[in-house]
Amino acid sequence: MRSTAAALALLAVPATLPAAPPAVPGPHNHPEMAAGLAGEVLLTELNCVACHRGGDLPAKGAPDLSAVATRVSPAYLEEFIAAPHATKPGTTMPDVLGGLPEGERTAAARAIADYLGTLGDGLFTAGPVDREAVGRGEKLFHQVGCAACHSPEGTAIRGSPPLHRIEDKYGLAGLTAFLEDPLAVRPGGRMPDLHLDHFEAADIASYLLRDQKPTPPRRVRRPENVARGKALFREFGCAQCHAPGTAVETFAPPLAGLAPGATCGSARYPLSETQGAQIAAALATPDRDPSPEVEIQLALTRLNCIACHRRDSYGGVPPGRDPFFTTSNLNLGEQARIPPPLTGVGAKLDPKWLRKVALGDGRARPYMHTRMPAFGAANVGRLLELLPEADSLPPAAFERTADERAAQAAGHQLVGNKNLSCVACHTFKGESATTLDAVELTTMAARLREDWFHHFMREPQRFHPSTIMPSFWPAGKAVRPELLDGDPGRQIDAIWQYLKRGREAPTPAGIKREPIEYGPAGGEAVMLRRQYRGIGKRGIGVGYPSGINIAFDAGQLRLGSVWAGGFGEMSGVWRGQGSGSVHERGRGVVRFPAGPALATLADRAAAWPELAESKRPEGFQFQGYTLDRQQRPTFRYTFAGLAIADRFVDDPEGPSLTRTLTFDKPAPAGLYLRLAAAEDPEATAEAGTFQLPHNLSLKTPAAAFLRRSGDTGEILLPLGGETSATIVYAFDSK
Ligand code: HEC
Ligand code: HEC
Ligand code: HEC
Ligand code: HEC
Ligand code: HEC
Repeated sequence: MRSTAAALALLAVPATLPAAPPAVPGPHNHPEMAAGLAGEVLLTELNCVACHRGGDLPAKGAPDLSAVATRVSPAYLEEFIAAPHATKPGTTMPDVLGGLPEGERTAAARAIADYLGTLGDGLFTAGPVDREAVGRGEKLFHQVGCAACHSPEGTAIRGSPPLHRIEDKYGLAGLTAFLEDPLAVRPGGRMPDLHLDHFEAADIASYLLRDQKPTPPRRVRRPENVARGKALFREFGCAQCHAPGTAVETFAPPLAGLAPGATCGSARYPLSETQGAQIAAALATPDRDPSPEVEIQLALTRLNCIACHRRDSYGGVPPGRDPFFTTSNLNLGEQARIPPPLTGVGAKLDPKWLRKVALGDGRARPYMHTRMPAFGAANVGRLLELLPEADSLPPAAFERTADERAAQAAGHQLVGNKNLSCVACHTFKGESATTLDAVELTTMAARLREDWFHHFMREPQRFHPSTIMPSFWPAGKAVRPELLDGDPGRQIDAIWQYLKRGREAPTPAGIKREPIEYGPAGGEAVMLRRQYRGIGKRGIGVGYPSGINIAFDAGQLRLGSVWAGGFGEMSGVWRGQGSGSVHERGRGVVRFPAGPALATLADRAAAWPELAESKRPEGFQFQGYTLDRQQRPTFRYTFAGLAIADRFVDDPEGPSLTRTLTFDKPAPAGLYLRLAAAEDPEATAEAGTFQLPHNLSLKTPAAAFLRRSGDTGEILLPLGGETSATIVYAFDSK
């Protein structure tokens, strides 16, 4: 029979899941790490050192709470503060209120939540999510790298940072904004930036919130609690870890004096037995091994680089996560799929490139679906100094050809398919002679250290034991003796000199550059969410089978451009580093002005509100889009209390398009739609027809009018009292 004390203890456990040990990378997944070092990881990752100061260990840090009420639901906020481990098993946040009796604890948590509710604009919204977005988000989540750290769908991999009950915590807009820029909220970089564009972030947020029930906007209701909440926030040490507020240096006894076996009376963590022993081991051995290699191992663990990379035999992708590392280049095998090892990487990569990569903007393997995340300069700075210190290679011995142009010309020949045929396997500006498509040639000299290149070219197997890259100078002999006297060092140098020209390097033999056309097929429209000129990153392009195309700006919620002819040329997007804009094909592109397309004006002459390209207009909210059978979109958004459906349907007869805006109720008085602002548009005699550049004509409801100021004209359509409006955009084929 159970004792009364045990029964009471059971009753005291909240009715949710039992607390799980905090999820911290390293010890779980990599048992080879020494206990003292694993303990050192815990001291920073659990933020012990945010309160126990005096050592040189940097605390991981915690979310910035300055706008937490916009991001996190008020009910969750209160619950989490009162009982973090029951609310979110596996969280690394300690329970600091746990010493208070139950009633006082909930009152304190409520007061603190009320205080936090006053930060930011304090308006939290949860909404329904779009089913199609959920599907796209699920795919992305398991493809771009989330599943390297978090548990993939249907699994619970030990040590994964929890996403438990996330649908109770966030709303769609708040979670999307967090995923677009996680470092803004969590500057410690443990949740890194995966370079999601707005749409990708919204799709993944929709997937994570797929079970959410809509709630009306809510904000804090108990202003009388705020002052007390603010005082408690300081008193219980919340500000030791969280902004806003200032941490106190002497909040707790210094780290050096902590007794190894003792427990913390102020901050409770449901540590596993192993974790407890590891912390004790770390506290018992305050003198750390200062070797750069150990420091590197600790840094790679803290930031969880080892979730994707291995360095020598440490870390690497574990079997449970392996299926989520995928590639679009099946010919290249494992190295197209699994992120490159970091063994010797300090001697391999140019320090500038290494920095660029660590800040997340140096890609060399566009086929790899997993992305190299950005961790924030402050968090990787020390690692970037340590890697080149720890890794080294002797300088390469070779004779440089004095005449640089002659060397480059020889390099040009060697790379081509009549000689060493690097282009048979490597891409040159995104193209290769075959379909192997290994690492890009034109960025090699910017990425690699010159010495490493020489060593690697002479003995590729020494660096990648299983590589299919041939050895071109077996036993120091050139397979092409006719160039540069067959001297291996001079030939390698020549290739280097040539590759150093980067994108300026002349195209080698074997590469044929062809534009990459993209457009509608099979009677259906195509959609491409990308960056478009004059719109920025939130563009949604649609190419219609009848030869008309639009780019809709989902940031500013306006029609950005329309053109007739082909849809787009993609080499700027699909070659290179993937950051280019779609280059519209076809005849003249008619661009519409940046800024909101809808505005409430005091009268017909009032100035249109100005807004720069890519800035978000106030009062608008994008709600996604739906597609009809022919894949033609209806964009949905709200403005001024109005739910708007904005549909674009092409006319099979020619390059012409009918746009229908439908409102859920009559539009308020004074609402106008700006259709165009171009230099000198001509209104024709017939009311409701306007001529724009490139032979584009607009047919509008008769109420539309042209107003001029100086050289430019604006076409406005009054909408007050209307429930819909139809506009036809037609290109005159003459
Ligand atoms: C390198 C490991 C890593 C990768 C990759 C990663 N995360 Fe995280 N994520 C974390 C860690 C660790 C935390 C908890 C951070 C903390 O304690 O501050 C976290 C936190 C989060 C949170 C906040 C949870 C909450 O309760 O507020 C969300 C949401 C999230 N991650 C989603 C994602 C998504 C989506 C991706 C992929 C686009 C992703 N993560 C990729 C490690 C990672
Ligand atoms: C030792 C450091 C530490 C202390 C002290 C601390 N927290 Fe936290 N807190 C964290 C960490 C780390 C996280 C992120 C954990 C996670 O995502 O699971 C967090 C998360 C949160 C969150 C969720 C924020 C978000 O955007 O997801 C809130 C709210 C919060 N803490 C409030 C508090 C309050 C209130 C206190 C004081 C009563 C407090 N914390 C004390 C470290 C701390
Ligand atoms: C929010 C601040 C805070 C955090 C975070 C924190 N502590 Fe403490 N800790 C204190 C304070 C204050 C005391 C002294 C009063 C007490 O015992 O409650 C203390 C006491 C201790 C003691 C007993 C002191 C002694 O030797 O007599 C130990 C051991 C300890 N902490 C270890 C840890 C460890 C390990 C962690 C991280 C897993 C940690 N603490 C996290 C504030 C904190
Ligand atoms: C979610 C998986 C993931 C995590 C976590 C991750 N990386 Fe990467 N990393 C990649 C991918 C994918 C690439 C290949 C990118 C490319 O070349 O296009 C890469 C490439 C690199 C490279 C370039 C190597 C070469 O030979 O070109 C370096 C250096 C690197 N990562 C360092 C780090 C460091 C340091 C960390 C931790 C702070 C880290 N990575 C965390 C996925 C990851
Ligand atoms: C038969 C195919 C093949 C040929 C021919 C070939 N390579 Fe490679 N090379 C590869 C493969 C495969 C890799 C490993 C790619 C990876 O890690 O993604 C590689 C790797 C490299 C690397 C290391 C890149 C890095 O960042 O790790 C360099 C440098 C390189 N090759 C240069 C060349 C040059 C220069 C030539 C011509 C003289 C050449 N290769 C010819 C297949 C080839």
